[in-house]
Amino acid sequence: MIPQPFHDPVMVDAILRHFNLRPGSVVVDGTIGLAGHSLRFSDLIAPGGVIYGFDWDSAMLKIAQERLETKTNITVRLHNKDYRQIGDVLDADGVMADATLLDMGLNSAHLDDPSRGISFKHDAFLDMRMNTDAGETAADYLNSRSAAEIEDALFKYSDERWARAIAKKIVERRTLAPMRTTTDLVESVLAAVPVAAREKRIHPATRTFQAIRLAVTKELENLEEAVGNAADHLAPGGTIAVLTYHSGEDRATKLAFRARHNHGFTDVTRKPELPTEAEILRNPRSRSAKLRVLRRDLPDANGMASGVNAIQYPKIGVQG
Ligand SMILES: C[S@@+](CC[C@H](N)C(=O)[O-])C[C@H]1O[C@@H](n2cnc3c(N)ncnc32)[C@H](O)[C@@H]1O
Repeated sequence: MIPQPFHDPVMVDAILRHFNLRPGSVVVDGTIGLAGHSLRFSDLIAPGGVIYGFDWDSAMLKIAQERLETKTNITVRLHNKDYRQIGDVLDADGVMADATLLDMGLNSAHLDDPSRGISFKHDAFLDMRMNTDAGETAADYLNSRSAAEIEDALFKYSDERWARAIAKKIVERRTLAPMRTTTDLVESVLAAVPVAAREKRIHPATRTFQAIRLAVTKELENLEEAVGNAADHLAPGGTIAVLTYHSGEDRATKLAFRARHNHGFTDVTRKPELPTEAEILRNPRSRSAKLRVLRRDLPDANGMASGVNAIQYPKIGVQG
């Protein structure tokens, strides 16, 4: 039995108000994670609806599969793929989406799992990769880049004011011993940021951990293109909702939506929607969330229809 971490899906009621789901709808959950949002979608699209779930982390897909297995009157297609491949998968099935969600946050399972090295709250190996089978770890990154490159990453990915001082401390520290653990990184930050300059609301290492994770996972690169590509695979009248948690992600989403507004799409949320105070109190991880929504206009003459009634799928399973 896989342990079942708790994840309270962010702004789910706001998303549902935009989605207009009904029996038979085709939903793409591009970041299915622990299926918090998809479980809510599943009740509204039954009977006959389809969920395409994507996650590049196979551990998340296993949990999503277990959670969605009880929903027998819908079809669930899970893909251990990057959400950049949503378009390829839908094209291969000849389907367009009635609703697509991209939830860019980290999920509770990642944050609470010390072995990931993502959170400064646990002493752990500095890994930070999402796909733990491939690619460079955060430790590799911090031990191999120049101070200037680390400074650029801290600035680019999290607007860190103390980027230069932190990068310098990291490089100084690794001349004594390689950077290995989250504690090594926290201590470098604390040595660089003057006590008087520390913000009370957030831990001084918060921005550094975010920036190094984004440098390792490259989550922001091509995000604008990926959001646009997912939008272009909406059925006429279909809606894409994107939840972002920092300014770089929000900017990329805004640009993808602006480029399509009045070109067959309507940018529904010209200003992003925010979680309510009540939600922030209940679910502190929603604190920095922003929701943007884009709708494909009706009618659309592209000739592709929504719906997958003609396609025979197994009811639930992970595909390639
Ligand atoms: C905030 S969680 C999603 C939580 C989900 N909405 C829920 O309610 O349970 C984001 C998920 O997206 C996945 N992810 C992040 N970037 C991805 C990418 N480029 N392609 C596929 N999955 C990605 C992460 O592994 C993580 O499981």
